Parts: sequence; C-alpha cells; structure tokens
Amino acid sequence: MIKNICCIGAGYVGGPTMAVIAQKCPHIKVTVVDLNENRIAAWNDADVENIPIYEPGLSTVVAEARGRNLFFSTDVDKAIDEADMIFISVNTPTKTYGVGKGMAADLKYIELCARQIARVAKNDKIVVEKSTLPVRTASAIKEILEHTGNGVQFQILSNPEFLAEGTAIADLFAPDRVLIGGDTTVEGQKAIQTLVDVYAHWVPKDKILTTNVWSSELSKLTANAFLAQRVSSINSLSELCEKTGADVNEVAKAIGLDSRIGSKFLKASVGFGGSCFQKDILNLVYIAKSYGLHEVADYWEQVIIMNDHQKRRFATNIIKTLYNTVSGKNITFLGWAFKKDTNDTRESAAIYVADDLLSEQAIIRVYDPKVSEDQIQYDLNYLATRSSVQNAQGVQVLQDPYEACKDAHAIAVLTEWDEFKTYDWQRIYDGMLKPAFVFDGRNLLNRSELEAIGFTYYAIGN
Ligand code: UDX
Ligand code: ADP
Repeated sequence: MIKNICCIGAGYVGGPTMAVIAQKCPHIKVTVVDLNENRIAAWNDADVENIPIYEPGLSTVVAEARGRNLFFSTDVDKAIDEADMIFISVNTPTKTYGVGKGMAADLKYIELCARQIARVAKNDKIVVEKSTLPVRTASAIKEILEHTGNGVQFQILSNPEFLAEGTAIADLFAPDRVLIGGDTTVEGQKAIQTLVDVYAHWVPKDKILTTNVWSSELSKLTANAFLAQRVSSINSLSELCEKTGADVNEVAKAIGLDSRIGSKFLKASVGFGGSCFQKDILNLVYIAKSYGLHEVADYWEQVIIMNDHQKRRFATNIIKTLYNTVSGKNITFLGWAFKKDTNDTRESAAIYVADDLLSEQAIIRVYDPKVSEDQIQYDLNYLATRSSVQNAQGVQVLQDPYEACKDAHAIAVLTEWDEFKTYDWQRIYDGMLKPAFVFDGRNLLNRSELEAIGFTYYAIGN
C-alpha cells in the first residue's frame, strides 16, 4: 500500500492530477515539488483563487486537500526520499537545438529528474512517467536509475495523462480510461497493481487498462495524433467549403452523425494549439524517421503542415480583406489562450497569427479573460522571427474587451471563450472604425446577428 507520493513538476499536468489523487485518497500523503519557487509559492497562496493554473473546479479540490494530505514544496530531495512512488511530470518541450531540432522531445529535464532520484533514493521506489514521452524513454530512465542508484530497486511505470486542459478536473474525476504500462516481470506486475490500487479509489476497474511500457508510451502519442488529425481533416475541408459555398458546420454535423465517426473533434478552427498535439505528432514523425519509415513519417507530418497552413491562411485572409494592407491598422484579438477555460498559451494559434500580422506592421490589441500581459509578451518574444522591441511596440494588452475593440479596424476571435458570445456587439460596433470587420477563427459568433448590426463577418469554413 502506498502511503507517500511525490510528484516532480507542479505544472498543468502534475498540479491537477496530484490534487485529485490527494482529494480521492485522503490516506496518501501527496507532495508536489518544483524548482520554480514562484510557482510553488503561488500553489501555497492563502487565497486559493491565486493558484498558478486556471482550470475550472481545481481551486475547490486544492482547498479541500491542501494542508491535509496535499503539499507543495521546493524541497525536491526531501520529497523524493520520503516517497514510495514518484511521478515525473516535468516538461518535455520540442528540442530547439542539435539533433532532432524542431522535432524530437528534449529529455534533459527528465534525465535530471532521474539522476536526482538515483542520488537521493535510499529505499525501493516506483517511478511513474507522467509527462508525454517518446517511446523508449522508460528504458533510458531505468538505465540511469540502475547505474547510478546505490543498490536501490526501481520499477518504472508509464502512466500517460489524457486530461485535456479546461476540463482537467472533470477528465480526472471520470476518465475514459487510465493507462498503466509496466514490465512483464513479476516485480513489474506488482508495481502496476500498486498504481492500479491508487486509481481504483475512484475509477471503475474496467476503465483501468494495463499494458507493457512501450504500448502505453506509444498510445499516448498516437491518441493525440488521431485527435489532431481529425482537426486537420475538418480544417482542410473548411477551405474547400469557403470556395464552394458549403458550410463546414453543416458538413461536420453530417459527418459526425455517422456513429462510426462520432461528433467530437470536428470543429473547424484557426488551427489546433496546446502543449501536446504538435509535440506528440513531431515525436511520432521523428520516431518513424529514425526507423527509416519515411511514408509513415510523411503521413503524420501532413497533419502539422495542414495546421500551419490553416493559421497562415487566417492571417492572410485578414490582410487581403483589409484591402491588402494592415500597416498601422488596429486589429483586436479576442482570446490568446490555445482554447477556452485555460490560461495556457503554448502553441496557441493566436501567437502565429499575431506574428504574421505584426510583420505586416499591424497594431495588435489583445483581450483574454485569463492570460496575463507578461505571458503574451513572452510568447511573442519567443518567436525567433521578431525582435522583442518590435513586438513590444506592436502589441497592447487590455483588461476590458470594449476598450480593446475601440477604434479597431477589425476584430479577430482566436479563442472560443463563452463570454465573447454575451457581449453587447452593438456597443462594440459603435466604437469601431467603419467598415467594421470580424474574423471569427472559432465559428463562435452568430452571423445573422452581427451582419444585422452592420459588421462584415468572416468565419472559418463558411
Ligand atoms: C490534448 C488531449 O485531448 C489530451 O487527451 C492530452 O492529454 C493532452 O492533449 P489539450 O491539449 O488540453 O488536450 O486540448 P484539446 O481539447 O485536445 O484541444 C487541442 C487543440 O485542438 C485546441 O487548440 C483546440 O482548440 C483544438 N480543437 C479541438 C479544434 O480546433 N477543434 C476541435 O474540434 C477540437
Ligand atoms: P506540463 O503541461 O507538462 O505539466 P509545465 O511546464 O506546466 O508542463 O510543468 C512542468 C513543471 O516541471 C515546471 O513547473 C518546471 O519548473 C518543473 N520542472 C522541470 N524540471 C524539473 C526538475 N528537475 N525538478 C523539479 N521541477 C522541475
């Protein structure tokens, strides 16, 4: 029986997952550690609304468990030492240097964790990889642990996360499935069972799937690749719909009603974002290439190519429609997060659309209900194509949507936040320069309502 869990990495995955484990298993002490002192301080903030990650329902779970059996700390060594089970939930961004640049996952944070565990551990431990990792990472972790550890036995499990941001708490409470991969040896099976017992506190047994490590690792990459492929497929049709007069929403509905296909992940958009889809597909492509499977690699790479095309197409359409020049024009972005109900902006389409418009010298104003100004500037500066000086001048972040839209030539909807639908669009129209344009990258708003007010309205795929 597990009494003590440690999770390394207090991010979008580690934070919510551990909060739910702690809430559902009050007898297990759960300590979440991170090197980032500010992040840990925010998790410990007396006002639970100030925790660093916005996720509906998360603050309630944290409020219940924090201080009881859920703790946040920067003392990584102590937490490792005390734990029977250690989750690794650190980030694995796409490599920005060297071999596999722009494609392979950067495993340096994972390796640092493994070395730290090996150095500190004094008794046997189960190490669980939670971060999305390329296939065969577990074997690397295992080697490091076995060769640097001091005779301590480690079992490595793969337990990929399938939660989606914005619905993380609901996904964790009632997952479609929990996947646990481990060694086929007796010790491996015992370790798997130990983790099954943790989840069994609230997840029905038939939803807990156990596999070998490699199947588990590959399933995570490919589940995301399949989902992203659906978005790219419907996005490819959105362009055809615009040319032919078909309506992509109607097409999506007609396709989705086929029970073999299903209705989810068929919403045409300005392009998918988030920390997982692109990274996981690139990983898959990289793995396929490294085995010499070029057709397999090209097949999956096309999903990314389509997504890049969709983002660029959206920006190009804005420029073309605004009489082929946006230089000095005010364009207001409603939304910056990669989807609604999260403050995460990683790989958000907004960043790339902004970059394209900024290089045409547009002036961009951004309103997002949950994303901070610092984050927006950070995202723009991260793009290698722009200098930070230019970006800082070209982008303004506002706290009020009506202020943000005042004197705008055009509005671009980049995130599907529900509140955008409830705005007083007449008031927004009155404050804008005429003719007033709305480019709806999420098919969120009501065409007839906006056209009746006087807007020129463009939506993806119709
Ligand atoms: C994804 C997986 O869903 C989750 O299982 C995994 O653990 C992590 O990666 P997430 O990145 O949080 O989750 O978001 P998801 O809801 O999958 O959306 C990804 C992107 O696709 C978003 O930018 C979203 O706006 C876009 N999308 C999604 C569409 O454009 N259309 C759709 O129909 C669905
Ligand atoms: P994810 O979406 O995968 O949870 P995040 O970037 O939100 O990714 O979270 C990962 C967290 O892991 C970050 O807060 C980072 O500071 C932390 N981290 C990375 N490496 C280490 C390490 N060696 N020890 C402790 N924390 C780490």
